[in-house]
Amino acid sequence: MKLLVCGGAGFIGSTFVRQRVMEYGDEVTVLDKLTYAGREENLADLLPERGFRFIRGAIEDAEAVPAAIRASDADAIVNFAAETHVDRSIAEPDAFVRTHALGTYVLLEAARERELRYLQVSTDEVYGSIEEGTFTEESPLRPSSPYSATKTGADLLVQSYFHTYGLPVTICRGSNNYGPYQYPEKLIPLMVLNALHGDPLPVYGDGMQVRNWIHARDFARAIGHVLEHGKLGEVYNAGGPDEEANIEVVRRIIELTGASESLIEHVADRPGHDRRYSLSSEKVRALGWEPEVRFDEGLAETVEWYRANEAWWGPIRSGDYRAYYERQYGQALG
Ligand SMILES: NC(=O)c1ccc[n+]([C@@H]2O[C@H](COP(=O)([O-])OP(=O)(O)OC[C@H]3O[C@@H](n4cnc5c(N)ncnc54)[C@H](O)[C@@H]3O)[C@@H](O)[C@H]2O)c1
Repeated sequence: MKLLVCGGAGFIGSTFVRQRVMEYGDEVTVLDKLTYAGREENLADLLPERGFRFIRGAIEDAEAVPAAIRASDADAIVNFAAETHVDRSIAEPDAFVRTHALGTYVLLEAARERELRYLQVSTDEVYGSIEEGTFTEESPLRPSSPYSATKTGADLLVQSYFHTYGLPVTICRGSNNYGPYQYPEKLIPLMVLNALHGDPLPVYGDGMQVRNWIHARDFARAIGHVLEHGKLGEVYNAGGPDEEANIEVVRRIIELTGASESLIEHVADRPGHDRRYSLSSEKVRALGWEPEVRFDEGLAETVEWYRANEAWWGPIRSGDYRAYYERQYGQALG
């Protein structure tokens, strides 16, 4: 396939692009605005590959998007581009509205113009919190943060283009991802890097928020699978094989890094913090996808990756991220 991958310089997007170019032989053009979370370094190993191209641009830019589509000669658009951190959406929601609402609209219009396949990458957070059981694709949408509410709006807009214009769309909703290249503001890399530095490990509230963890390589394969085999107009959930409470994840990271338990610091909980997310993946499994990486094994591999890749995280941890961290947690990194 020839793909235009928006947001392909981020964590999951770059994992997907690597897979498609190296394992499937696709031609991939990445369109990415390079926000604080997007990094060309995430794609550095792909630069020499034939059929890989990078374009810097925003999905809400109604000139840049058609130009990127022409340059890529794409058969399909896969949209990862998003603001992805719930804490930032609470502090400053405007970029979330711009990228998720306006950006998705601009992409859909450009796809409609050329009758391209369109896959929207989405999240389990659109369903809100669930105490017991799991969400299916038929569950009501009850987002609770500006992040998840704007992602939900984007999903609904995508579905409206199927119903109204017959645009060939699919949506793939993932559970909490982890793995190499994840920006250190997110739970797992934040805890790993703080543990390796002997910095406090700030745990929101009682730490009993339960998440359904999926390795980014598994989610990327699910997205490719839905793109190739999904029924048009449909939503597919892709959840990981294991659920774990945040505090247990932190304890596992302490074991894996050899840090001290005394580094754990319970801090004021995030406003409106969802207690538990859980996805049923029966529908995508019926298409022949299965997650391959169990959480224990994937977490150990991820910790090792961060240990071995200071050249990747060093510039982040010494740059703007320090100021963000201080604003968010009220204390400086050591
Ligand atoms: N991380 C998770 O746990 C998770 C789980 C399920 C779904 N998702 C979804 O997967 C997608 C990717 O998430 P991620 O964790 O890789 O995010 P990320 O923050 O690592 O990367 C986002 C990428 O999008 C780019 N971007 C942001 N705004 C843009 C814009 N207006 N125009 C062009 N590019 C823009 C950024 O530069 C960055 O490269 C998102 O849509 C997210 O909602 C994430």
